[in-house]
Amino acid sequence: MSAPTPPALHVDGIGLTIGGATILDGVDLHVEPGTKIGVIGPNGAGKTTLFNVISGVMRPTAGTVTLGGTDITRMSVPARARAGLGRTFQTSSYFPRLSVLENVRVAAQVSRGGNYSLLHFPRRDDPATEAAHAALHEVGLAHRADAMAGDISHGDKRKLEIATLLATDTRIVLLDEPMAGVGSGDVNGLVDRIRDLHDGGRRTVLMVEHHIDVLLGLVDKVAVMYSGSILAFDEPQRIMDDPVVQRAYLGTAA
Ligand SMILES: Nc1ncnc2c1ncn2[C@@H]1O[C@H](COP(=O)(O)OP(=O)(O)OP(=O)(O)O)[C@@H](O)[C@H]1O
Ligand SMILES: [Mg+2]
Repeated sequence: MSAPTPPALHVDGIGLTIGGATILDGVDLHVEPGTKIGVIGPNGAGKTTLFNVISGVMRPTAGTVTLGGTDITRMSVPARARAGLGRTFQTSSYFPRLSVLENVRVAAQVSRGGNYSLLHFPRRDDPATEAAHAALHEVGLAHRADAMAGDISHGDKRKLEIATLLATDTRIVLLDEPMAGVGSGDVNGLVDRIRDLHDGGRRTVLMVEHHIDVLLGLVDKVAVMYSGSILAFDEPQRIMDDPVVQRAYLGTAA
């Protein structure tokens, strides 16, 4: 069985104004299925806001987002999740008072069309539980399955978020600063986990990351955001060599 290709993600002319302030301004981004895309840019450039618009957390005031040719601009967050769109947030998102296993299992259950129910005692061979155990094993968190999610280390929390995406049918993953706050000793492990998520192109990966050196070695293309727009979108080396990018963002003389 050949791996199904994830749907193409097209962002066209996305604009967002809030209270007269322009946050996003004519953002175009066409992401090829199964690629790894980095998004960089200075603080306040609009990177998180763009992810919010793609994932449905915020509604744009102009433009469209299409997934596999379907216009999802006005689709709800859960509907987008069912269409295969998943994300992590700039600050860790999980249920701190649930066990590590329950966090992943509930996500797997919801992605299989179930609800957020915690009231039943899942059997070990329940499909969502099996998917959760497999995902925790894959990210190296199996030994922490019964720990309370709020009690695990910061690096382990990022692994937990990735396990949550692995256990669901997510085909397009948006990672907002996955390396933030992760110790240098954990960075290589996290890079491997992101490669696991990508799974040879079974998932498309978009990631915002300030660790540019890590990003450049990982992604196929880089989008540079500046002041609510995309300044350049190209292969990593060409981005680094681009005088416009150097002047506007990297702060070096071109
Ligand atoms: N809900 C909101 N209401 C008003 N302004 C907002 C809102 N959300 C974001 N902004 C503003 O939009 C701009 C872009 O913010 P955003 O968080 O997208 O930047 P970013 O590129 O992710 O920055 P960072 O690298 O610091 O995470 C900022 O000026 C921010 O203050
Ligand atoms: Mg941000």
